[in-house]
Amino acid sequence: MSRLVQARRLEGIDKNVWLEFVKLAATYPAVNLGQGFPDFPPPDFVKEAFMKAVGGGNIMLHQYTRAFGHPALVTILARFFGKLLGQELDPLTNVLVTVGAYEALFCCFQALVDEGDEVIIIEPFFDCYEPMVKMAGGTSVFVQLRPVFTREEMELIADLCVKHDVLCFSDEVYEWLVYDGKEHIRIASLPGMWDRTITIGSAGKTFSTTGWKVGWTLGPDRLLKHLRTVHQNSVYHCPTAAQEALAQAFQREFDSYGKPDSYFVQLSHELQQKRDWLVRSLVAGGMKPIVPEGTYFLMADFSEFKSEVPDVPDSDEPYDSRFIKWMIINKGLVAIPVSAFYSTPHKKNFDHLIRFCFAKEEATLKAAEDILQQWSLEKTGQ
Ligand SMILES: Cc1ncc(COP(=O)(O)O)c(C=O)c1O
Repeated sequence: MSRLVQARRLEGIDKNVWLEFVKLAATYPAVNLGQGFPDFPPPDFVKEAFMKAVGGGNIMLHQYTRAFGHPALVTILARFFGKLLGQELDPLTNVLVTVGAYEALFCCFQALVDEGDEVIIIEPFFDCYEPMVKMAGGTSVFVQLRPVFTREEMELIADLCVKHDVLCFSDEVYEWLVYDGKEHIRIASLPGMWDRTITIGSAGKTFSTTGWKVGWTLGPDRLLKHLRTVHQNSVYHCPTAAQEALAQAFQREFDSYGKPDSYFVQLSHELQQKRDWLVRSLVAGGMKPIVPEGTYFLMADFSEFKSEVPDVPDSDEPYDSRFIKWMIINKGLVAIPVSAFYSTPHKKNFDHLIRFCFAKEEATLKAAEDILQQWSLEKTGQ
């Protein structure tokens, strides 16, 4: 065949770090601190709300619901986030429910990036941003983040957006996972930003239900109406029962906002302890973790271990990726290479870092601790 079968926009974007490392994690008997999902259950009130939605007798919850978001869910999302953003949100025009934050991102890029547009991506980034920009015909421009992100820096970015009339897609799926008394700053709440920002959230990360795949976007109607066009011509409907259950869950969190029985408060408290546990294990094992103030991931410098896996200077594969493959097979521990979250020219500068997810049961963290301890003993010849 002389002609390529695939559309040109797919060229060069077929590789995906998750496909590769999720497969490896399933192939070997390994402790999985790779992909970002909790291995503990969602809270009871969330599970019960789902069971009630499915078995509670309302037969309409088994059928299609409103295409742009189940009425009960968009109503509470508008109330909840309206309060946090300092905006009166219209559930019908300022909220769009999507199949996870992933679809929300896809809608943003397809709806608002035109051929030839430049998209500034802050590194490290969620790896799908770059192929999504390419599929929309845009060009990615990368800006590296130093390991600090203060309110002043956010304000500077906001001022630049206003000054240069730039749109902002703000992926805030880890908004509730903030530690050490720090606060999450919503860029849409900064002066001049509401009208040019799309804020993206994920019920998967919010309620430890990544398999439900419910996400949302919040923003002004002038932007969201174009996301609705993409959504109605691709996915169209999201699962009704999951949306109903999440509406109940958000209502409960709305009523207990900031109180000790709030799941959001409890989750960040528990995850901070898990973070500290994994930090201790890594330090004791000889790695140098960077302690994060948010999300359920941390990066660790494994330079001390480089002698164990010989470098192949001319290899196309970044060193961290080869190191993790070796670690999965030989040590039974899964992580994700940090170079996957950098653009091609910058990957080399970060291939001494690997990423661990600490949203894991005690047993999983203990198993990881044991592996690191044993490894350290072997290294020192004890
Ligand atoms: C930064 C970021 N954005 C978006 C997503 C996708 O979220 P969802 O599972 O709701 O599609 C993830 C999932 O890992 C993520 O880490």
